[in-house]
Amino acid sequence: MKRRHFIQLSSLAVVAGGAAYTLDRGIRYPSLGLELPVLPKSFLDRDTLIDHKDAIRVQTQTDQSRFRANVPEPKFELHVKTARTIQLLIENLSPKAQLQVTGAKSSTETASGLQRLVKLDLGSESRVLLQWTIPSAENYRFAAIGDTGGGPELGWCIKRAAALGADFILHLGDLNYRLEDYDLARANLLDSPIPIYVSIGNHDYRDGGIYYHDRFRALIGPLNNEFTLGGIRFLNIDTANDFFPASSGHRGNFIQQLKIKDNVRDTVAFTHRPMADPRPGDEHDIGGAGQIPWLASHLNRLNCKTLLAGHIHSKLEIEHEGIYNYIAGQGLAIEDVIAEKSVAEILLGD
Ligand SMILES: [Fe+2]
Repeated sequence: MKRRHFIQLSSLAVVAGGAAYTLDRGIRYPSLGLELPVLPKSFLDRDTLIDHKDAIRVQTQTDQSRFRANVPEPKFELHVKTARTIQLLIENLSPKAQLQVTGAKSSTETASGLQRLVKLDLGSESRVLLQWTIPSAENYRFAAIGDTGGGPELGWCIKRAAALGADFILHLGDLNYRLEDYDLARANLLDSPIPIYVSIGNHDYRDGGIYYHDRFRALIGPLNNEFTLGGIRFLNIDTANDFFPASSGHRGNFIQQLKIKDNVRDTVAFTHRPMADPRPGDEHDIGGAGQIPWLASHLNRLNCKTLLAGHIHSKLEIEHEGIYNYIAGQGLAIEDVIAEKSVAEILLGD
């Protein structure tokens, strides 16, 4: 082969390889950018490996072993090399959640609000499991609302949901409209009497030209995840951005690996943007080429006929491609908070 042809072929191979990598990883838009790197689901505390797939590690400057649970019944696994004691602080656990520890020499648990401090005495070369479970009940009640910002409206929504007897809240995204909102949201989440699972909104990802997704993943929760409680499967789906191709990114990987599960009575998806905007002339639905049919085909495959969304600051319902969309983006209940009028409506499910 002539040298010129070799260089041309090599260049083509590099370009094709780069394109394949980009398409596989996925492009988020707007604004245009590659999908975020994967965050680790385990971390090394001295020589103890802590697997925390059901919780994010809260990255504060003072406390390495602090986690925020993203599911009602989280499991942690510790792989211990050298004998030691360790303390783990877990946030966002229901007061009803009961801990079972296996493999430790001894353990104690102290509750304060939704936080549990677990002290463990660990033997060398041991494997230790921590599993919280919720006692079975005939049904569990959840509240769903989005678009609260992080301040007093979020605090009001949490109080209202608890007063309505909700066991947990599905937050439909957009905790962040102002520079201080992540700090305010974090304070409200720590104060909440019931657990909150949050789906990322467009403003949580990027607002006013500033990227906030690192703060979301470090303080609030993952981009996508699932849990099952009382036979109902909940799917948290990231619609903060559009993806190219529709099947790419963490969302694409997450949804494609989901399989139908036994012992599931119903499946409910919760996300930020709905699949359709029923208001004439408005387009606050999931955008992007081919995304809605792709999402609908997978939700139908998983027998998921219900999608809870925010983004539109109204209470609306619409059926789209076989999926019933409940829109509950009325979290900015400023009139409820200040004028004490009943304006915002929280969606309740049992
Ligand atoms: Fe939004």
